[in-house]
Amino acid sequence: MTKLSVNINKVATLRNARGGNVPNVVKVALDCETFGADGITVHPRPDERHIRKSDVFDLRPLLRTEFNIEGYPSPEFIDLVLKVKPHQVTLVPDSPTQLTSNAGWDTKANFNFLSEVLDGFNNAGIRTSVFVSTDPEMIEYAAKAGADRVELYTEPYASAYAKDKEAAVAPFVEAAKVARKLGLGLNAGHDLSLENLNFFYKNIPWLDEVSIGHALISDALYLGLQRTIQEYKKCLGR
Ligand code: PXP
Repeated sequence: MTKLSVNINKVATLRNARGGNVPNVVKVALDCETFGADGITVHPRPDERHIRKSDVFDLRPLLRTEFNIEGYPSPEFIDLVLKVKPHQVTLVPDSPTQLTSNAGWDTKANFNFLSEVLDGFNNAGIRTSVFVSTDPEMIEYAAKAGADRVELYTEPYASAYAKDKEAAVAPFVEAAKVARKLGLGLNAGHDLSLENLNFFYKNIPWLDEVSIGHALISDALYLGLQRTIQEYKKCLGR
């Protein structure tokens, strides 16, 4: 079964636009779970421009599904994750000012750093995932550094999908095979949508999890959150 983790950053962006607590991020997360989400993802950034540190602490005891915290492993981020102990931590290489993650790790160049960080999370019993491109070498070094899973950065798939979906998915299928051979779990995320998700899933049915935010929250404006989550799950054969 491929799990659907709903990234609720955009809900926090909307809340922060007005101050106050509308929409209520915790309530939305719990409703996503009620509507069938298998997990909730947040990406607390140093400037707290969407998810705040306090949201992370508020969510932890209330969530009933899998909690995934993603971010750049700065000392502050590591400290937060070790305190909150989510089910999964996803390491992304983005700088604090970046709009959104736009590349996977160079796991070879950052091998010593990632090994040390992953060791700390592994010792704390937190499942680890490393955000990578489809380059087999990056996946191999993620495994060597001690990751439990890799998350494939799917933006290149999403942007090439309309032109030639077979060609768009091909490197992801190869990367997924490399991950499987190395005994790694497999996640995927970025720019997945109702348009492109089913084809991705059908080609890589052994995916453990997809993490989806922007398109899903945008679809919910038209379809409502409950129906949107159901539609995304249908794309995952559920
Ligand atoms: N995975 C990672 C590592 C991300 O940084 C993001 C964006 O926050 C996502 C998945 C979700 O991407 P999107 O919002 O395009 O669905």
